Amino acid sequence: MRVSCRVNGEPRTADDVWAGESLLYLLRERLGLAGAKNACEQGECGSCTVYLDGVPVCACLVAAGQAQDREVRTVEGLTGPDGALDRVQRAFVAAGAVQCGFCTPGLMVAVHDLLARDPAPVDQDIREALAGNLCRCTGYEHIMAAVRLAAATPASTPTGPEGHDDHH
Ligand code: FES
Ligand code: FES
Repeated sequence: MRVSCRVNGEPRTADDVWAGESLLYLLRERLGLAGAKNACEQGECGSCTVYLDGVPVCACLVAAGQAQDREVRTVEGLTGPDGALDRVQRAFVAAGAVQCGFCTPGLMVAVHDLLARDPAPVDQDIREALAGNLCRCTGYEHIMAAVRLAAATPASTPTGPEGHDDHH
């Protein structure tokens, strides 16, 4: 079947999508967006997290066909059109929260979503928001530091699905 959706603000189409194919496969293998990672394929690690109509989902659990006519935003879409990193992306780098990096794209989407809903989360809120995103490397302290740093960084607007961070 053919699937057409908007991905990071651009209309995209893929042909010959098979029944049962995941949105993660569509993004990575057909559309060349390797940001969302494939770790467990069972909805348990969060490394494949993307926005679907503004709501974070595990792309490995969503059928590609469900994205038809909808808006997908991946970690690549957090970066502004001029290549400027979003405050969440900058904070992860600055806080040393990236080790192997496998969990990082999904975490960035989850943190981006958290801060859009709650600009000043306390640690307990951060832990709860990120409970579905597993990291085998960092012990989470650097990730917590990255979220605090991002929250303390002025948000550039807009932050919606079409938005991008144009802060320099
Ligand atoms: S690869 Fe989707 S949750 Fe782990
Ligand atoms: S940095 Fe390796 S899994 Fe998180």
